[in-house]
Amino acid sequence: MSSLTGFIYDRVMAQAEVACLRDWRRELLAGLQGSVLEIGAGTGANLAFYPAAVQRIVLCEPDPGMRGALTARAGALQRAVEIRPITAETLDFPDASFDHAVSTLVCCSVGDPARALAQIRRVLKPGGSLVFLEHVAAWDDPGRRRWQDRLNPLWRRLASNCHLNRETEQAIRAAGFAIERIQRESMRKIIPLVRPSIRGVARKPA
Ligand SMILES: C[S@@+](CC[C@H](N)C(=O)[O-])C[C@H]1O[C@@H](n2cnc3c(N)ncnc32)[C@H](O)[C@@H]1O
Repeated sequence: MSSLTGFIYDRVMAQAEVACLRDWRRELLAGLQGSVLEIGAGTGANLAFYPAAVQRIVLCEPDPGMRGALTARAGALQRAVEIRPITAETLDFPDASFDHAVSTLVCCSVGDPARALAQIRRVLKPGGSLVFLEHVAAWDDPGRRRWQDRLNPLWRRLASNCHLNRETEQAIRAAGFAIERIQRESMRKIIPLVRPSIRGVARKPA
């Protein structure tokens, strides 16, 4: 990816952010406190929504282009954040380090979702939560799902390994989380094949 990645990403997502994503991010992050690990933080679209009760924010972002924009946005905040250039599959924090993990629009792109979710679970404290917002395989529209499957190989190449048809809810459950709350809703102002989305909270057993 080039250093333009962050700039382009923000422009591609701008309409969806205004139409729905900003509100969803705000609502999802509102109750967090203590320590937060965000994976695939991108350009920092969640940063403005972390409440003051969050005392430690660690942002992981492996892509240098995205990380450049993230660093600039984090620098403009009046609070300390740690930025790490690592993937979700290779988290190097001790077990039980964080109260919450945040993944927004990331599970579609990780190389090995099962490994990433296992690492997230490991670094969460018992009873800690995974807050997620992900675009996923269409669950109620077989025609759309067929197109997601057909176009996925091409899309992955064009969009930095983003998959159109990941079954992320099932992957979260398979990783040993209990889904505490989930909403399934169509994203707005974005191409139809990435509209099906889930968002909510999953909990690591105490
Ligand atoms: C679609 S962007 C989402 C960015 C941001 N989370 C948001 O909500 O706008 C996906 C991000 O996941 C990152 N990513 C890709 N593979 C990853 C991995 N294995 N572990 C962590 N992040 C990854 C990408 O570099 C990119 O920044």
